[in-house]
Amino acid sequence: MISIVIPTFNEANNIQLLLQNLINLLKNFDYEIIVIDDDSPDGTSEIVNKYMKDYGTIKLITRVGRSGLASAIKEGLLFAQGKYSLVLDGDGQHDLSCILPIIKEIDKGKYDLLIASRFLTSSKLEGLSNKRSLGSKCANNLSRLSLSSNYSQITDFMSGCFCLKNNYKTKSLIKKIEINGFKFLYELLSISKGELVIKEVPLFFKERTSGNSKLDLANVWDFFISILHNFTFRIIPRRAISFGLVGFSGVFVQLFITSLLTKIFIFDFYRALPIAVISAATSNFLINNQITFRSNRLEKKALFIGLLKFLIVASLPIIANIGITTAFYQYISASTFIAQLAGIVIVYAWNYLASSSFVWNNS
Ligand code: GDD
Ligand code: MN
Repeated sequence: MISIVIPTFNEANNIQLLLQNLINLLKNFDYEIIVIDDDSPDGTSEIVNKYMKDYGTIKLITRVGRSGLASAIKEGLLFAQGKYSLVLDGDGQHDLSCILPIIKEIDKGKYDLLIASRFLTSSKLEGLSNKRSLGSKCANNLSRLSLSSNYSQITDFMSGCFCLKNNYKTKSLIKKIEINGFKFLYELLSISKGELVIKEVPLFFKERTSGNSKLDLANVWDFFISILHNFTFRIIPRRAISFGLVGFSGVFVQLFITSLLTKIFIFDFYRALPIAVISAATSNFLINNQITFRSNRLEKKALFIGLLKFLIVASLPIIANIGITTAFYQYISASTFIAQLAGIVIVYAWNYLASSSFVWNNS
C-alpha cells in the first residue's frame, strides 16, 4: 500500500480537484490519502470530510492549536500505514505525472527516499518567481555545503514532493525531525547524516491556480538558522543561534541611534548612550518576539510587560559585564580582547537563558 500525505492550509479551492485526480490515478492501487489540515478557516477540512464519507481510502486529520508545514508532514508520515509514503502539496502545484514513476521506482526496493526535483534537466518549472528561484538556488547551495557529501548530487533539497520507504529506520528519523517551518526534507537529510539511499526524479512544478503561498520571511529565517545549527553539529540550540544573531543586529541599532542623536540632534554622548542602549534592547526584544520566540509570541499587554522584563534581564549583565571582564583581565588573561570576548559570551548566555524562561516562559 502507498500512503499519500497532503498538508493543507486554506486550500478549499484546490483540494477537491487534487483528490479527484488522485482517486482516478490510483484506482488500480492499494492506497490511502491522508490530509493534514490545520483547521483552515476557509473550510478545507469540511470538503475533505465529505470525501472521507464516500471513500474509505481518504483520511483526514484536522489539527486544532497546532500549525506549520513541517509538523503537519511529520504527523502525516507517522500516521501512515503504507509500505511507502509520498508527500504532496495540497495546492496542485505538484503535477501528478511524477507519481506513477515514483511508485515504480520505490517499489524496486533499492532506495529509501525518492525526491521529485524541480531542478533536473528534464524537470519543468513554471510556478516560481525569479525571487523564489534565486532563493531556492541559494538554499540548495547552502544545503549542499552543510549536509553529508553523500547527498551532494541532490538538486532540490527543498522539495515538498518526496517518497519514503516506511521502515523502522525512516520512522525513527522522522520522529527526530524538528517541526518548525517549511524545511522538512532538509531536516530529514540532516538527521540521516548521509545514511539514506536516494534518487531524484523530475517534477513538473506548476503555477498556483488559487490562493497564496504560505512561505514567509520567518520560514526563510528558520531555514537559515537550521543551516547554522547543522554547522555547529546540531549542538547549539536553534533559538540560541537566532537570539545571538538578533543580539548582533542590536549592536548596529545602538551605533546608529548614538550617531543619529549626537550628530543630528546634537545630544552629548552621555545623554545619547542610554537612549541608544534602550532602543537596541527594545529592537532586540521585538525581533526576538517576532521570530526567535514566535511560537510563544507575546501580544498587547503581555508584550509591554515582556518588554519591561526583558529590559530588566538585559540590564543586570551590563553591570556584571564590567565585573566579569575586569576580573577576567586581572586573573585569567591580560588580553583586553579576550577579556571582552569572555564578558560578551557570558552576558549572551545569561540573556538567552534568563529571557527564555523569564520573558517568554519557555523551559
Ligand atoms: N497543515 C498545514 N499547515 N499545511 C500547510 C501549512 C501549515 O502551516 N503551510 C503550508 N501548508 C500546505 C499548503 O496548504 C500546501 O498544500 C503545501 O503545504 C505547500 O505550501 P505552499 O504555501 O503552497 O508552499 P510553496 O508553494 O510556497 O512552496 C513549495 O516549494 C517549497 C520550496 O521552494 C512547497 O512545495 C514547499 O514544500 C517547498 O519547501
Ligand atoms: Mn504551493
